[in-house]
Amino acid sequence: MRVTEGGVEFEVPDARDGASEGRGEGVFYNPTQELNRDVTVAVLRAYRERESRAETYLDAMTASGVRACRAASEGWDVTAVDTDPDAVALARENAARNDLSITAVERDANVQMHDSTVDVVDIDPFGTPIPFADAAFSNTRDLVCVTATDTAPLCGAHFESGVRSYSAVPRNTDYHPEMGLRVLLSALVRTAARYDTAARPICSHVSRHYARTYLELDGRATEADACIDELGYVHHCEDCLTREAEWGLITHPPDDCPACGSNRVVTAGPLWLGAIRDPDFVAAVREHVTDEMGEAARARRMLDTLETELDEPTHYDQHRLCKEWTRSAPAMDDFLADLRAAGYTASRAHYHGTAFKTNASVEEIRTATAE
Ligand SMILES: C[S@@+](CC[C@H](N)C(=O)[O-])C[C@H]1O[C@@H](n2cnc3c(N)ncnc32)[C@H](O)[C@@H]1O
Ligand SMILES: [Zn+2]
Repeated sequence: MRVTEGGVEFEVPDARDGASEGRGEGVFYNPTQELNRDVTVAVLRAYRERESRAETYLDAMTASGVRACRAASEGWDVTAVDTDPDAVALARENAARNDLSITAVERDANVQMHDSTVDVVDIDPFGTPIPFADAAFSNTRDLVCVTATDTAPLCGAHFESGVRSYSAVPRNTDYHPEMGLRVLLSALVRTAARYDTAARPICSHVSRHYARTYLELDGRATEADACIDELGYVHHCEDCLTREAEWGLITHPPDDCPACGSNRVVTAGPLWLGAIRDPDFVAAVREHVTDEMGEAARARRMLDTLETELDEPTHYDQHRLCKEWTRSAPAMDDFLADLRAAGYTASRAHYHGTAFKTNASVEEIRTATAE
């Protein structure tokens, strides 16, 4: 099947053969990840302006070579790796078809990453990226890009699997996409710190099927310490939805909810409680989304929200709160305006259309937005 993404033409397996779920015989290609790849290209464009010496890009799990070719067409010096010989052959063909020069290698990604240093590494495996995190952080210069598709373990829906993969306690809450992202970031930041490296997310987003983050590296141990200081816990009341963040690696969970007195308080962590993105960088990425991208409109909308999203560690779901209060949900812009008029900060959050952030407590939100 022939597809075009971002002006580059590819031969990929037919999605009906199951390749997009990673279960078919053919080389993997998932058309629903085009948004992820469009944003990757915009990030690579913006990152080059931020760090002019960055020129080498390793697509560590290349499959059809789609990401590798798109990076090469942007002028990056690209190596594409996969353990599947059919994938490596297809990546080579796709590069040749577009007159692009890439180095395609049949190799385990961990071996490749331990063996050679590059400026930017892209980790896009089936499921959890954690088995590749040590090699990525021990030997990359500037930027590590990570996709995680194991959203159920990450958000606590598959609890034991999440604990095993991420050495953290996830909890299944009404802000599950953000829970998943912060569990992922926590594990990545802790892995990088083992190499005296700070890994700070400069752009991150979550869609229904995956979490994606871009971590900028800094080789100063003091910066790695500063990242560790941004880890902590969230105490969440399952009855009134109050949540409180606690910074630090030692937690002091409350016996009862400080707001409603319920003993159904669960604790999640260690989570990354810091910013999930640098707003200036996200604005630059947004400027580099261009019209030939198939998902340009969605990418721009998502990046606009991401840029202005507050840094509070958890978002609320407006519909869930209004259901609790047996109210109908007003238009989101009016709802946020009411919060601001009452003196609170408030923003949309990119996780979904009814997600918002505020520094108001649940009770304060209820009062400020009452009809
Ligand atoms: C989700 S696909 C990658 C999709 C691709 N990056 C894209 O944007 O279309 C995962 C790929 O990782 C490859 N893979 C699995 N384990 C690997 C390993 N240890 N080292 C390198 N590649 C691996 C698989 O063969 C598969 O092609
Ligand atoms: Zn409560």
